[in-house]
Amino acid sequence: MLFEVAGVSSGYGKVTVLHGVDLKVDRGEIVVVLGPNGAGKSTLMKTIAGHLPAEAGSITFGGSNIARLPPQQVSRCGVGYVPQDNNVFRELSVRDNLRIVSLAFPDAKQRVDKVLERFPILAERAAQRASTLSGGERQTLAVSSALIAQPELLLLDEPTAGLAPLFIGQMVEWVSELAAEGIAVVWVVEQSPEKILEASSRTYLLEGGRTTSEFDSKELLEPGRLQELLLEDRDR
Ligand SMILES: Nc1ncnc2c1ncn2[C@@H]1O[C@H](COP(=O)(O)OP(=O)(O)OP(=O)(O)O)[C@@H](O)[C@H]1O
Ligand SMILES: [Mg+2]
Repeated sequence: MLFEVAGVSSGYGKVTVLHGVDLKVDRGEIVVVLGPNGAGKSTLMKTIAGHLPAEAGSITFGGSNIARLPPQQVSRCGVGYVPQDNNVFRELSVRDNLRIVSLAFPDAKQRVDKVLERFPILAERAAQRASTLSGGERQTLAVSSALIAQPELLLLDEPTAGLAPLFIGQMVEWVSELAAEGIAVVWVVEQSPEKILEASSRTYLLEGGRTTSEFDSKELLEPGRLQELLLEDRDR
């Protein structure tokens, strides 16, 4: 297994939000983390990425424990993180957004060119300020920025929230291509999970800061199954 979270607890100061989360992702696998608002999905991503310290448990990546590393080191180990909010530099152009994250690498220009080749929609808008992009374009830029470091694991926190079905399909297609190249993906979703469920292998349900169950993603696509699950959740 490339990546394993075991018994992880974390939170904000005295407030514990995650109470022993477990999650595994293999190379080239797409795993979904599904859960209602406030379940702790973003807290989990922040903890893995090193922005919040894990109070308990282990986070193993490629055989070493990365649980107490600062964000830059987690990133250098090969973990790419696309936060839910504020995930681009709004005042910079598309190209400068990519340039700024590429500065850490000796082959910066090649890395930027490679990403622009993969996403022609960004190449067209290279000179445009990020603040003027559409929602879908901005999310594409955020994912592209994470790809500059050429990660082995990609954490995507609700990358298609509020976006049109056509774009959700596009993003799922791109992410499937990345997985086919061997990248492991964790895709966090709250609403409209159908398309990513189709492309993923397993789904973890996160509720109240706990991973309460694990499913074969295909099973959740059976008629009525998702509704049943999310209603159960609401009744609790
Ligand atoms: N910076 C913070 N300081 C204190 N508490 C926080 C902070 N950020 C989040 N929380 C709390 O942690 C809990 C989990 O929040 P989190 O953002 O991880 O949920 P989520 O599953 O990502 O929800 P959403 O679907 O709305 O994005 C919530 O109760 C929230 O109020
Ligand atoms: Mg969130």
